[in-house]
Amino acid sequence: MQMPEKVNVLLIGGGGREHALATAITRSPRLGTLYATHTSNPGIARLAQPVDVPVSSNEIYRLAQFCDKNNIELVVIGPEDPLADGWADALRKKADGSQRMIFGPGAKGAQLEADKAYAKQMMKAASVPTAEGKVFQKFEQAQEFLRTRDELYVIKATGLAKGKGVIVPKTNEEGIEAARDMLVNKSFGNASKSILVEESLNGTEVSVLALLDGHNILVLPPCQDHKRLLEGDEGPNTGGMGAFCPADTISEPVMHQIESEVLVPIADALRRDEIEFRGVLYAGLMLTPAGPKVLEFNVRFGDPECQPLMTRLQSDAIELLWATAAGTLDQIDVQYSPQPCVSLVLASKGYPDAPEVGKVITGIEDAEQQEGVFVYHAGTKLDEDGNVVTSGGRVLSVTALGDTMEQARQRAYDAAKKISFDGVQYRRDIAKDAPVASV
Ligand code: AMP
Ligand code: GLY
Repeated sequence: MQMPEKVNVLLIGGGGREHALATAITRSPRLGTLYATHTSNPGIARLAQPVDVPVSSNEIYRLAQFCDKNNIELVVIGPEDPLADGWADALRKKADGSQRMIFGPGAKGAQLEADKAYAKQMMKAASVPTAEGKVFQKFEQAQEFLRTRDELYVIKATGLAKGKGVIVPKTNEEGIEAARDMLVNKSFGNASKSILVEESLNGTEVSVLALLDGHNILVLPPCQDHKRLLEGDEGPNTGGMGAFCPADTISEPVMHQIESEVLVPIADALRRDEIEFRGVLYAGLMLTPAGPKVLEFNVRFGDPECQPLMTRLQSDAIELLWATAAGTLDQIDVQYSPQPCVSLVLASKGYPDAPEVGKVITGIEDAEQQEGVFVYHAGTKLDEDGNVVTSGGRVLSVTALGDTMEQARQRAYDAAKKISFDGVQYRRDIAKDAPVASV
């Protein structure tokens, strides 16, 4: 379908990733009206009109009606849950029978993220290099397996667990306890009805994100995320404490290897299974001495990786998202700022287990006025008095462009210092060891 002169867009999701997407979308001269499901996020509220119908999987037809009523031509689905729940499938068909453009795969494609056992099976079938793994439903069998192994294993809930369903134990004894927690104590509910016990890999971790449109693959600039809570990669895994882009840790030949050994075979396998995948394929990889190996797939932009990516995007975001949904990625040219970008997550005290919320945040505007700085809202809301307060674990993504990675980093940290709320915590070493990249 031809892209109209002006496009009304619906953005689904309410985190820092979606605020960064909304910011990029509103820069586009092709935008008609931007609507958003999560205008409780004050950053998104500044840019988008609210959706005035209930937004839920049970009543997804209400959102479909809303799209019809408001002539929404493009829907951008940010998070994994609505993708796994089939919102892309439900919103694709317009009342007049024609197709609406949807950025994000349908439920079948989303299984690559929502079911780690399925993803493993697909990787095996497509000969994609990945950590060896076994799926267990019964704790006793997992225990028996782990007891008899010398090498170390990682324990993963197979379902969606908000980025927290992976335990990287120091010993297999600890691994057995993690397996017990998941399978017996159901620590992640249905998401840990079965677990994947996977060989523990060493190396540098990288995320490679690509846009798939059903025919073409467009690899996005490499980013690196920092998943552990504390400096020096200590502490529990989180959804991500900061990211930088480009991550020149990946050499050009390795990037090509990842494309030909991972992205192309998966895109082919999806096509063979008649799954039209139109959205982001995110491969989390470990660069091991034996070559790159996949740790996981996501079917959406990473959060916080999306923040530096969208901040660097110079091309028209609507054209890019539309081309992905329409299958015409081969017809567009995508430009990024030559400036590197660093994004820090300011998190609440108690994150990731039990974040404290309701704390008044000050200094956001001051931070936003710094050169090259963008503050994306994630876990924030307005209280009754109109104050911006914390409402989740990851509160803000303080993001900065600079002429060098070091300058971007400095700007982000200087801006972060201007923001305060009770219990704020953030890592001081985001992008610290990033390779020197300059304009
Ligand atoms: P995932 O959600 O699968 O990316 O896992 C979360 C984090 O756990 C990853 O970012 C890695 O740091 C770590 N991890 C996952 N799988 C493995 C593995 N097989 N070996 C070592 N670390 C892993
Ligand atoms: N930053 C990692 C993720 O979005 O899964």
